[in-house]
Amino acid sequence: TSGPASGPVVVLVGPPGSGKSTVGAALAERLGVGYRDTDADVVASAGKPIADIFLDDGEPLFRELEAAAVRTALAEHTGVLALGGGAVLREETRALLADHPVAFLDVGLHDAVKRVGLDAPRPLLIGSPRARWRELMEQRRPLYTEVARTVVATDGLTPDQVAEAVLNAL
Ligand code: S3P
Repeated sequence: TSGPASGPVVVLVGPPGSGKSTVGAALAERLGVGYRDTDADVVASAGKPIADIFLDDGEPLFRELEAAAVRTALAEHTGVLALGGGAVLREETRALLADHPVAFLDVGLHDAVKRVGLDAPRPLLIGSPRARWRELMEQRRPLYTEVARTVVATDGLTPDQVAEAVLNAL
């Protein structure tokens, strides 16, 4: 099959702290298109912050809302789209991504921890963020790789350099 007629010009995946939002905004700016992120869509649909969804409703409901947000955004959005770090956990979502220009922002623990924890709290990293992050990345690396059309090694690069690398690769 030949992918969708339209859809996001770039989809960014990667773990928390890989710079998806910063790089996504930089890419959108360069390309003169809109930026959208499924975490924000989930917050809007639930009417509360992600940490509260995890606490009040649990991770399974969060993943339901997230899968729906990804499906909608892939169908509607034509700019740059960043996915929440765990969106690739769902088989259904990975199948949808096969038709899209997906870039995996690969990152090591060192660069990731410089970013995570600085803004909104990530429920899944509570307790021991470094150990949890390592576990997440170990579990998900094969999934990010599976959905990616390109893998960008981001360690030591500025957001603009990563944006450049994504554009060159896709
Ligand atoms: C999650 C990552 C978060 C957010 C939620 C769960 C994850 O998004 O969707 O806290 O499972 O890795 P970011 O990747 O934007 O931090």
